[in-house]
Amino acid sequence: MADIASLKQALAFSPDNVPLLLMLGDAYLEQFSFEEARTSFEAALRIDPGNPQARLQIARILDLEGRGSEAILRIEQVCGDFPSFAPAWMLRAGFSLNENRPREARDFYERAVALDPSAKNEDLLKRIRQAGGTRGGGEGREAVPQRNSDRQAGAFFDPDFEDDFDEDFDDDDDLEIEFEQRTEVDFARVGGMESVKEDIRMKILYPMENRELFEAYGKKAGGGVLLYGPPGCGKTLISRATAGEIRAKFLSVGLHQILDMWIGKSEEKLHEIFEMARRNAPAVLFFDEVDALAADRKDMRSSAGRTLINQFLAELDSEASQNDGVLVLGATNAPWHLDSAFLRPGRFDRLVFVPPPDEPAREEIIRLMAEGKPVAGLDSAALAKKVKDFSGADLKAVFDQAIEGALSEAMRNGKIVPVTQKDLLRAAKNVKPSTRKWFESARNYALYANQSGFYDDILHYLGIQK
Ligand SMILES: Nc1ncnc2c1ncn2[C@@H]1O[C@H](COP(=O)(O)OP(=O)(O)OP(=O)(O)O)[C@@H](O)[C@H]1O
Ligand SMILES: [Mg+2]
Repeated sequence: MADIASLKQALAFSPDNVPLLLMLGDAYLEQFSFEEARTSFEAALRIDPGNPQARLQIARILDLEGRGSEAILRIEQVCGDFPSFAPAWMLRAGFSLNENRPREARDFYERAVALDPSAKNEDLLKRIRQAGGTRGGGEGREAVPQRNSDRQAGAFFDPDFEDDFDEDFDDDDDLEIEFEQRTEVDFARVGGMESVKEDIRMKILYPMENRELFEAYGKKAGGGVLLYGPPGCGKTLISRATAGEIRAKFLSVGLHQILDMWIGKSEEKLHEIFEMARRNAPAVLFFDEVDALAADRKDMRSSAGRTLINQFLAELDSEASQNDGVLVLGATNAPWHLDSAFLRPGRFDRLVFVPPPDEPAREEIIRLMAEGKPVAGLDSAALAKKVKDFSGADLKAVFDQAIEGALSEAMRNGKIVPVTQKDLLRAAKNVKPSTRKWFESARNYALYANQSGFYDDILHYLGIQK
């Protein structure tokens, strides 16, 4: 969390900065200083009347202060004014649950996740299910007080709704923990990312190759590296490639999966997963979306996540656990939501920023993507120049589009039509770089919540000197 003093300092220079005011409010809320939090959010609203985030947080404060019905009223208004603002639906789901209306809560929860899959909140989902949201359990319907039925009639009594929900949430069997014996991808398939590759080599490849030497210095192979950065820039790809590079097995785990599917058994499952990796060393254990573990500490009512976090930290602890030969990689877009306990030595003790590819890296990625495809007259350098701020995923979208065009022409002509440089340039015009938005918020965290200089890499990338 941002520290209050530096936020205030920043606000002294830019008093009308709404994102800063929101961060200050959040920081106060974090320490349960409701009055000050509210003052900050109200200040944000004076500058930006109607700001949904500020209104949402005020509703949250009202609820925390025990003014439940006022909180509900406020959040309903936010939902009404900004129907596609996922966090408002999510908060409303929590309120409904507190009012003992689990079905309504489910409806709102689903809406939030449909709008923004990353809004998932495993704690809340768990509590919704415990309150009567499981398959075959008719209790929920009885538990619902009728007094609000006018507002949620559609959600409650739509017979299809029940089925949809069950399919989405109650299928415990389809958890896929992917354990790849061998992965085809290695570092050569990953364009750029030289410093990330070197970090990973240093952490696992060299220690494995020079075991005695490293042991002489008291170092073991293995440990934890946390990759963070904007979406689509290769965190998942480099993790898989690491396994390929060191010919280790690769086990990929989505934490949302553990949390959603093994409600109540998450700790046990997590332990099993670590055990499986230890038995299979050398192995790369990859946790996608580690921020899913971040307990929403503003939600005082929920503490369920804590035991899982502790379990995770214990498994990760290189001192206590036998993680020799197990490299734990974590990936996140939002490292600031992670408990700082994760970043202590012996855990994820290396925080690696995965930036958008620079021009030479883009050129390399473009070349890699063109490989094995019918591309004629590729000028990867010229294309790389035109796609500033594009992520690897954005570049993939450019190729997909161009290839689709060529393919439909090929279908019409009945023969292979190559993708040309022109096709790629045209496709590039249609694809918007997706990394800028991430930096808008990352910048504020790096400037104002940069304890121990964790996010200096972001500042460096943005050319900001502190
Ligand atoms: N450096 C790269 N070299 C080659 N391809 C890349 C690179 N970076 C990204 N890509 C392409 O973009 C796709 C998306 O990358 P990836 O899933 O690894 O991103 P991510 O950082 O994990 O994103 P998210 O944060 O959304 O999970 C990859 O499957 C690959 O096709
Ligand atoms: Mg990923």
